[in-house]
Amino acid sequence: MSTTTDRPTPIDTRTKLVGLLGRPLGHSFSPAMHNRAFQALGLNYCYLPIEVTTEDLATVAAGIAKMNFAGYNVTIPHKIRIMDCLDSIDPLAQAIGAVNTVTIRNGRTTGFNTDGIGFAHALEAAGESSVENKSVLILGAGGAARAIAMTLADQGATRIVICNRTESKAWDLSRDVNQQGRECATAIPLGAANMANALQDTDILINTTSIGMHPQDQQSPIANRLIQRHLVVCDIVYNPPLTHLLKVAQEKGCRIVRGIGMLVYQGAASFQLWTGRDAPVDIMRHAIHP
Ligand code: ATR
Repeated sequence: MSTTTDRPTPIDTRTKLVGLLGRPLGHSFSPAMHNRAFQALGLNYCYLPIEVTTEDLATVAAGIAKMNFAGYNVTIPHKIRIMDCLDSIDPLAQAIGAVNTVTIRNGRTTGFNTDGIGFAHALEAAGESSVENKSVLILGAGGAARAIAMTLADQGATRIVICNRTESKAWDLSRDVNQQGRECATAIPLGAANMANALQDTDILINTTSIGMHPQDQQSPIANRLIQRHLVVCDIVYNPPLTHLLKVAQEKGCRIVRGIGMLVYQGAASFQLWTGRDAPVDIMRHAIHP
């Protein structure tokens, strides 16, 4: 049961700390999002931004494990390096090759990656209850694409096609996905003809590149004419909240999934890992996008 309160969370000797390790942290929404959620559920937790250099990461992680921390988030540039500082790594995070969430229980640290799960939950919230039997086209092959591709493969997507500016990275990612078990991933070279062909059999289109991010609001990772009504179109870019790609897709009658959804649901999954409670996702969303 969740109780909603507007009282500020008290800081006392029973307060559990969580935080965000990265550098720089100026842009992060996570402290506001989590502290608002703790307050709303009346949980005695406090989320702190902790800027850490690469040289100090191992020392800080070891210190935090000895303190009253329930865990922490990890962001750029430490998502890979933190893996060497932990006692164990969840299999999905291991497959992704990066950790964005750490839990601390009885002094033992475990690394998770909630980026892909966050995306899958955002998809679910938009009405796409399962990716089983679904064919997915991912634009980009960076860290976010990797988390999403591994997670959707794990959740039973039938086919995952990856298309990236640097084609070799798309092939590398598809090979890594296939090595996790099912032979469901492949790559295609960039180009309108290839894309048009692949989109015929695609159910879900996902942009994981930064194309369309403010201030390049008018840019789109694919030509407008390639977007067809049968597609669910997703963008992980959350600034602007409605990217050019999503605007065009919406106008064509496609179901769309905004980047803010992934941001909120990856946070919600971390929140659940630390507190054991379901996260108040609407309150978290409102904290970062009133
Ligand atoms: P993230 O962790 O957000 O995924 P990343 O690992 O730096 O960030 O990956 C960014 C992705 O966006 C990459 O796939 C990148 O393509 P390259 O591998 O060719 O670099 C893609 N990307 C970024 N800017 C792009 C642009 N202007 N055009 C096409 N692709 C772009």
